[in-house]
Amino acid sequence: MSEPSATSNDHRTRPSARPWWKDALVYQVYVRSFADSNGDGVGDLAGIRSRLDHIASLGVEAIWLNPCYPSPQHDHGYDVANYFDIHDEYGTLDDFDALLADARDLGIKILMDLVPSHCSIEHRWFIAALASDPNSPERARFYFRDGKGDAGNEPPNNWQSAFGGPAWTRLDTDPTANNGKGGQWYLHTFAREQPDLDHTHADVNQLFDEIFKFWFDRGVEGFRVDAVAGTGKHPDLPDQPPVGPEVGVLDITWMNEYTVFRPEGHDVWRRFRTTIDNYESSHPDRELMMVAEAYAVRRPELVKAFTEPDQFHQMFSFDLMLTPWEKHSIERAMLDPIAILAETGVPPAWTLNNHDIQRIVTRLGRADAHLPEVWTNNNLALSRADVDLALGERRARAMTALIFALPGSLYLYQGEELGLPEVFDIPANRREDPVFERTGGAEIGRDGCRVPMPWTNDASSSYGFSTPRADGTVGEPWLPQPAEWGERSVSEIDDIENSTLHMYRSLGEVRDEFAVSQPLEAQTIDIGPEVVAVRRGELVVVVNPTDQPVQLDLDHPEMAITQPVFASEPAEMHTTGVIPANSTIWFSS
Ligand code: BGC
Ligand code: MG
Repeated sequence: MSEPSATSNDHRTRPSARPWWKDALVYQVYVRSFADSNGDGVGDLAGIRSRLDHIASLGVEAIWLNPCYPSPQHDHGYDVANYFDIHDEYGTLDDFDALLADARDLGIKILMDLVPSHCSIEHRWFIAALASDPNSPERARFYFRDGKGDAGNEPPNNWQSAFGGPAWTRLDTDPTANNGKGGQWYLHTFAREQPDLDHTHADVNQLFDEIFKFWFDRGVEGFRVDAVAGTGKHPDLPDQPPVGPEVGVLDITWMNEYTVFRPEGHDVWRRFRTTIDNYESSHPDRELMMVAEAYAVRRPELVKAFTEPDQFHQMFSFDLMLTPWEKHSIERAMLDPIAILAETGVPPAWTLNNHDIQRIVTRLGRADAHLPEVWTNNNLALSRADVDLALGERRARAMTALIFALPGSLYLYQGEELGLPEVFDIPANRREDPVFERTGGAEIGRDGCRVPMPWTNDASSSYGFSTPRADGTVGEPWLPQPAEWGERSVSEIDDIENSTLHMYRSLGEVRDEFAVSQPLEAQTIDIGPEVVAVRRGELVVVVNPTDQPVQLDLDHPEMAITQPVFASEPAEMHTTGVIPANSTIWFSS
């Protein structure tokens, strides 16, 4: 394992004077799958420490850690049993402090993942609720209700879980006869192991105040806030109006107006913001933030509502992540968030990949990726058309080169810098995502973008993912890695000129040099009917989403004084104004 690089005290100098989060490059670490320091087949914090040099080589300014709190891992940490500690497979609070200190030496901040909408069935509050009477204060922190029907056999309403199946689970037994109503039911927007918290309860408010303080005191600089769309419910929990047969099983929840994008949720975010602002005002050297995770694609009014000055600092823009590879779709996906920035001053938090979404190389390699109608807001059930991975990687590089130029911050997901594709070849008995089980296998779920990272071509150490134990053995990685993982590993593609890894490193550099130094704004410009062209100050970025090269008119007034400074296919960077098929070129004066 490599040590942090010798330049570790060489703090990164910010190219702009803005608060760091407004235009930061952030790297998402899925802790379970990044690097395993103790050979048990599960990633851990010490593993991340040993690989910080890789993260730093991309020029990132912050790391977002997927949840690493104690958890029975039914939804891999999104079922939190204790918000104030580290999951035992991942290490200890001391390991966390050491990671934070090492990262800080490299000029890298740490963001945690905050899960407010639900906790785990193993959280002490839920355990206490199960041991208490139906109308006890212990149950009031959750949504426990009697069932419908004489014997309470029907769920309290018709809400569906976002992972498939009913959003209610009934307790087998209840400590009292419950007046003949039998066991109560509890609400879980996601898996049954993730009981929803009631944020109108004072204890819940106080818990989250304490969570912020605990992690800010440790040096965490902000939070990615999970599943904000479904936090907050209509107080009466009414039945959801029926949905048509065209609505997929994983989409029903997101159409439920009684639990999605509720005003009650905004009360929660205002409380969180007050907590953060208060902390910041007593720590003037800190620039703290929280970024909202919700799928508000093509719904600018929602993004505005979440990023009011008294709520989130930023919200993820998943528009470009979910867009087809087609000029007008790409333009719309880019311009909606930029229009919000112009209106409200809130820069987008752009994303092309995360741990919930099929990887971009696979998505853009689909035979139908260029069709406007494949446009979808559904994060799981995508097209099933054939995939051409070489084409997908080329398009992914072009899309990445676009997004690095845009105003706002940018969240990368581990492995995208290697051009990793989605893994489909996972046997049913190794699938871990609750979506697979809850849909009876109809939806394969998200395991395919969570397969442990390949670092070397050495199969005996799970491609460098696991450091062998003292006896030289390594445990099986928690999800199986495909045979081609070795060729796609960091050490292998580091030796390949113009590999996707090299492209990401160069993009980090040209972003600092030509993009971040520009004003926080951008416009599309019309320099040809086939291409997407964006001007950001003195930078002009042109994407050719077609399968043919396009010749630009270099006498066009917008192009007059510009030179190519970066190309997503460096071997094809021409000074003649040709934009190769499925590629992106940056021009600057
Ligand atoms: C997270 C998912 C998680 C869900 C429930 C999301 O939006 O990103 O990974 O399963 O929230 O916590
Ligand atoms: Mg481990």
